[in-house]
Amino acid sequence: MLKGLRVVISAGPTFEDIDPVRFIGNRSSGKMGFALAAAAVERCAQVVLVAGPVALPTPEGVAERIDVRSAQDMHDAVFAAMPADIYIGAAAVADYRPREILPSKLKKGDGILQLELVRTADIIADLAVSRERPRLVVGFAAETHDLEHYAQGKLRNKGLDLIVANRVGIAGNGFESDDNTVTVFWPDGRRNIGPLPKRVLADALLDKAAERHAQLRDSTPSSTD
Ligand code: PMT
Repeated sequence: MLKGLRVVISAGPTFEDIDPVRFIGNRSSGKMGFALAAAAVERCAQVVLVAGPVALPTPEGVAERIDVRSAQDMHDAVFAAMPADIYIGAAAVADYRPREILPSKLKKGDGILQLELVRTADIIADLAVSRERPRLVVGFAAETHDLEHYAQGKLRNKGLDLIVANRVGIAGNGFESDDNTVTVFWPDGRRNIGPLPKRVLADALLDKAAERHAQLRDSTPSSTD
């Protein structure tokens, strides 16, 4: 059950501007995150959707949609949406941004162009160690290989409660597709789900999220105990 819980979901890519014309970013249509938002609304959660640049309509019943562009914008919007009971990071956040954004269009030369890139802030890792940490923090891992190894590493290193690992780089799965196949990992278990349409998959993921949220709630002494 998610009834009455505040659920913040990030979706889509982030774009990191090079100049007023060009950017770098990750691939993501936002379909997975928007499907999760629609599924959470159906379970009577209060849903805040933080969306990178995507061309999708807001699912009916979403309490608030915040459109952002860069990883830093998304970081600020996610923290501004706290406190929440659950955070689900389905966004494909760019890990690097240009060191500086040029004020005017970079003109082409004949040779190689070298860009200096710096790391962006890790939204979900920062949230997981913050005072505003939601009870349940769910990440995604998009991997082309060694899915389990990298997903388990992110679960531990980013301080997550659940991670949803999907294989990308193969047709019909992960980015942009309507269907997805995932393995969900938590500290002492895993479950394979799919292939399924993303909206159906979202229901299965929220079943697992609701179960873990209830376990964590029941194992945490309340402030009045
Ligand atoms: O949008 P679709 O086209 O439907 O595609 C869905 C999807 C493939 C984008 C989605 O299912 C998915 O896997 N999202 C995460 C993609 C990703 O970039 O994963 P990652 O392994 O780089 O990041 C791991 C986790 O850290 C993610 O929860 C991510 O949101 C988070 N992160 C990453 C970098 C960063 N700077 N801040 C973050 O919060």
